[in-house]
Amino acid sequence: MKYIFLVLISLSSLMALDGRTIFNKECASCHRYKVKKYDFAKEKHALKAPPMNEISRRIKKRIKVYFEDIHRFAVISFIKEYIKHPSFDYYMCDDKAVARFGIMPAITHLSEEESQTLAEWIYDHYSIEEYEKK
Ligand code: HEC
Repeated sequence: MKYIFLVLISLSSLMALDGRTIFNKECASCHRYKVKKYDFAKEKHALKAPPMNEISRRIKKRIKVYFEDIHRFAVISFIKEYIKHPSFDYYMCDDKAVARFGIMPAITHLSEEESQTLAEWIYDHYSIEEYEKK
């Protein structure tokens, strides 16, 4: 009985490690989950940071690597690094966004697995086309 209970606990903690859950807990207080390009003007005043779909699109476009798998690796690595070390030297956001919101505060308490899962989710979950659709 004890074993079944332990297995259940470990299964549920494994399942809890998904990108959206980590995003909601760690990032959503500043980053909106999604704002469409055409709704930006009317939503802008209420934002504390760029929305995550816009960030995903921007970094994917800025990092130009021909091979899809290496592109994914480069974007995910950038996101993981930026969360720990946000920087005036390396930000990819719009200059106007940085002037308005300032540089993001560093988030250093995530485990390697959590930041990997989160960065993969930011890459895989959002698509450039979806953001640009009306
Ligand atoms: C306290 C508010 C706050 C929290 C919490 C926060 N961010 Fe940010 N984030 C910002 C601001 C402001 C910017 C825009 C300025 C900049 O790029 O540093 C930003 C920018 C970013 C960028 C774009 C970096 C670039 O190239 O300019 C990424 C990626 C990012 N955040 C990821 C995350 C993730 C992932 C989390 C959750 C683990 C998170 N942020 C939590 C405020 C926050």
